[in-house]
Amino acid sequence: MKISIFGGGYVGLVQAAVLSEVGHDVTCVDINPRKVDALNRGLIPIYEPGLDVLVKQGLSKGLLTFTIDAEEAIQHATAIFIAVGTPPDEDGSADLQHVLKVAETIAQYMNEYKVIINKSTVPVGTGARVKSVVREQLKSRNVICEFDVVSNPEFLKEGAAVADCQRPDRIVIGVESDKAANIMREIYEHFNRNHEKIIQMDIRSAELTKYAANCMLATKISFMNEMANLAEKLGADIESVRQGIGSDPRIGYHFIYPGCGYGGSCFPKDINALLNTSRQVSYDAKILKAVDRVNQKQKQVLFNKLHQVFNGDLVGRTIALWGLSFKPETDDTREATSLVLINALLEAGVAVQAYDPQARAEVGNIYGDQEELTLTDKKEDALIAADALVIVTEWKEFRSPNFELIQQSLNYPIIVDGRNLYSPQKMKQLGFIYYGVGRGESIKKQPAVIMTAPKEMVQ
Ligand code: UDX
Repeated sequence: MKISIFGGGYVGLVQAAVLSEVGHDVTCVDINPRKVDALNRGLIPIYEPGLDVLVKQGLSKGLLTFTIDAEEAIQHATAIFIAVGTPPDEDGSADLQHVLKVAETIAQYMNEYKVIINKSTVPVGTGARVKSVVREQLKSRNVICEFDVVSNPEFLKEGAAVADCQRPDRIVIGVESDKAANIMREIYEHFNRNHEKIIQMDIRSAELTKYAANCMLATKISFMNEMANLAEKLGADIESVRQGIGSDPRIGYHFIYPGCGYGGSCFPKDINALLNTSRQVSYDAKILKAVDRVNQKQKQVLFNKLHQVFNGDLVGRTIALWGLSFKPETDDTREATSLVLINALLEAGVAVQAYDPQARAEVGNIYGDQEELTLTDKKEDALIAADALVIVTEWKEFRSPNFELIQQSLNYPIIVDGRNLYSPQKMKQLGFIYYGVGRGESIKKQPAVIMTAPKEMVQ
């Protein structure tokens, strides 16, 4: 089938690559000529495992093309996806200007039936807005042309986007006509072979499904973070609690990992967008508000722990930081806890030596030539002469590090672990002063630096 996709960003690019892999003839449109040029040469602007192989494969088979020519892309296909960004507005609501602009462009060039598919995460009611924009534009061109609008939200996770797209656990389609439903079924036929994954509904419900999914996941995390904070105060271990509750299939083990807060381009943005939608219909969404508030506080726990560890004596210290991306397997630092921590440390007069396998360039761009922030090429280099190590993102390479080397490199054997990677008992045996999130022993009256003499005093 001939398909066009507007937007060569995260969602559009992955969708284009995966649809071309299963044999569709896909044209992906982006307004950035340099990006389009690079993509046509197989150069991927983001780090996403497996994506480069798929894009190169699509290009070589002639099933995937990138273009800046919107008219050509609109003529090319009956099915046109809108997968452009919906960044948050000042008030937290989703900015729909790009989505509506694409809708207008489609209507400007279409002369025959099209199904216009919203892939971008858009507030409830956007389908209707797209419809009226297209209708208006067609009217002003004096063109009578049938079309359908469909909501087909994307559920892919960064870092696993290709796999999620290749093996979706559900395909939500919000449709108003059988004709559009049949086209959607044809597009997703390959993915719907073994068992029915398509969940068909009306457009507004499909739009809300996307927000409900992300907000539910964010709620699980904030709930667990709240339990972790409580566990610390009560002397309980959240890791045992997690296993204890996850074993109930009604709760499940997925997405109940406590930590130093969720980030990324979706959860914070979508919670705020849904809060905004709620306000518009005069509904006081108390749980959503709390989820966001808990998360904002949770992003501060690492700094608060360091503050306590050093008994408030932070000025002039150096902290090693492992993990900058908002989660492993991505170079994305949007809404990442690392940025909240770096800002707080720099403001407190602390120098930061940070390492991340993928996100160093992104963070380098954010902070420019900020002297007190050093980005190291190796995780070991970040440790040298630092007063403590803080783990912010659970990259695989942080799971079994050389603990002896960590001890030798740090001024104090202190690890503050925002992702609960290690066993507190084992760390104690190894001679570390170790703090996780919700692991029973909170930093009580005795700050770690008082318990641990700096190395030069021991010698
Ligand atoms: C999310 C949704 O999972 C995906 O379905 C949707 O389409 C887009 O938003 P993504 O933002 O890529 O995907 O990341 P995800 O893996 O969901 O993680 C989000 C954040 O939650 C990360 O910061 C992660 O560290 C945190 N998290 C996740 C936890 O703190 N605990 C958990 O148990 C799981």
